Amino acid sequence: MADATAKLDLDGKTSEYKVLSGTTGPDVIDIRKLYGTTGAFTYDPGFTSTASCWSKLTYIDGDQGILLHRGYPIDQLAEQSSFMEVAYLLLNGELPGKAELETFTNTITRHTMLHEQLSTFYRGFRRDAHPMAIMCGVVGALSAFYHDSTDINDPQQRVIASHRLIAKMPTIAAMAYKYSVGQPFVYPDNTLSYTANFLKMTFSVPAEEYVPDPVIVDAMDKIFILHADHEQNASTSTVRLAGSSGANPFACIAAGIACLWGPAHGGANEAALNMLREIGTPDRIPEYIARAKNKDDPFRLMGFGHRVYKNFDPRAKVLSKAASDVLDRLGISDPVLDTARELEQIALKDQYFIDKKLYPNVDFYSGVILSAIGFPTTMFTVLFALARTVGWVAQWNEMISDPEQKIGRPRQLYTGPTQRDYVPVAQR
Ligand code: CMC
Repeated sequence: MADATAKLDLDGKTSEYKVLSGTTGPDVIDIRKLYGTTGAFTYDPGFTSTASCWSKLTYIDGDQGILLHRGYPIDQLAEQSSFMEVAYLLLNGELPGKAELETFTNTITRHTMLHEQLSTFYRGFRRDAHPMAIMCGVVGALSAFYHDSTDINDPQQRVIASHRLIAKMPTIAAMAYKYSVGQPFVYPDNTLSYTANFLKMTFSVPAEEYVPDPVIVDAMDKIFILHADHEQNASTSTVRLAGSSGANPFACIAAGIACLWGPAHGGANEAALNMLREIGTPDRIPEYIARAKNKDDPFRLMGFGHRVYKNFDPRAKVLSKAASDVLDRLGISDPVLDTARELEQIALKDQYFIDKKLYPNVDFYSGVILSAIGFPTTMFTVLFALARTVGWVAQWNEMISDPEQKIGRPRQLYTGPTQRDYVPVAQR
C-alpha cells in the first residue's frame, strides 16, 4: 500500500501514521511516534494486533494455513529437504548449494562435543529432574564455558555461537535424557548425520549399540524441520527480548527454552499425549469434549487451537501422515493414534470448535510419533527446543545485525494506587 497513512482522532486532535507494507501479509501501522505526538500508548496484551519487529525469515498466513520459511512452503521442505538444509536456509536466506551444504554440515558436526566439565554440571541435578529443567540450566551455563563466542558485536563470534548452539543442542538433549534415566552419557558420533547422531546418543547403551533405522531418522528429521521456526511466537519473542538488552546468545536461548516449556506453547506436546492416554479409548472422547467446552472447567484440548492458525496448522497435516507411516513401519498399533484420529473428527464437527476455529496443531500428532520412536513424554518439549534453536538463533542474528535495533521495552496501562504518603509501621 504505497504512501498510505492511518489517521487517529484523539480528543479532537488528528494525527497521521505511515502504513508499512511487507512483501506479503497484512500492512502495519507505524505507531513509533504515537506517544511523542499524542501522549498515549497502545494497549495490546498478548500482542494480538502488534508486530514487534520486521523479519525476512518466516511467513504465516493463519487463515489459509500457510507457513513459509524464506518463501519455501513447509510441506515442500518437510518432504524434500533435510533439517541441516532448513537450518542453513533460515540462517543464510537461501538454500545451500551442494558444497555449501557439505561445509555447513561438516562445521555443525565438528561442534557436537561438549566441554567435558559440563558433564559434572549435569550431576548437580536431582536424578529425577525433568529434562527441560536440565536444558534450561545447562544451556544457560554454556556462556560460562564458551567465552570466546559471547561478544555479540563481533559478527564472527555470533556465527560461531550460532553453530555451537545448533551443534551442541542434540548432545545436551541426549545427555539430559541419559541423566534422567540413569544411563551413561554417549559421546557424539561424527560419522552420522545430525539426526541419526542424536538418536544414537539418546538410545545407545554400552551393552548394546543403537543402529538408527533410516525410516525413524527420516521421521525425526521431519519433526525437526516442522519445529525449526515459527515467526514471532512466545519463545522466539523471549529470545529477541532477552537479546535486545545485549545478553549473550547462550543466555538468550536459555530464556527461550524456559518460555517454551509452558503447556500453552512447547509443553503442549507432552500435555497432548498425556491427555490422549488419559482419555484412553474413543468412547470417553465426548466427556473430554464437554469438559473443553465448559467455561467453568480450566481443561483445554491440548494440541488444539493456535493464536495464528484459524484454518489448519500445515505442520499438523504433515505429522498426521507421518504418524501412520512410522507406526506402520514399526509394526505398532497404538490405540492412542486411534483416539487422536477419532478426537480430531469429533472436534472438527463440533460447533464450539468450528465457531472458535480450533484445529489440531503441530503438537497433536508429534507425541504419537515420538512415543513410537521410544521417547518418554518428558522429552517431547526438549526435542521441540532442540529444533527451535535454529529459529531462535536465526531470529536473534537477524535482530542483532539490524543497526536500528533497540532494547525491547514495552509500556503499560497503570491501574495501581496513585501517589500516597508513607505511613510508619507503628501508625498503621
Ligand atoms: N480447547 C478448548 N477451548 C479452546 C482451546 C482448546 N485447546 N484453545 C482455545 N480455546 C477457546 C478459548 O477458551 C477461548 O474461548 P472464549 O473466546 O470463549 O474465551 C477461545 O478458544 C480463544 O482462545 P484464546 O486462549 O483466547 O486463544 P489464544 O490465541 O490466546 O491461545 C493457544 C492459543 C494455543 C494458547 C490455545 O489455543 C491453547 O491453549 N491451546 C492448547 C495448548 C496447545 O495446544 N498449545 C500449542 C500451540 S502450537 C505449538 C506452539 O506454539 O508451541
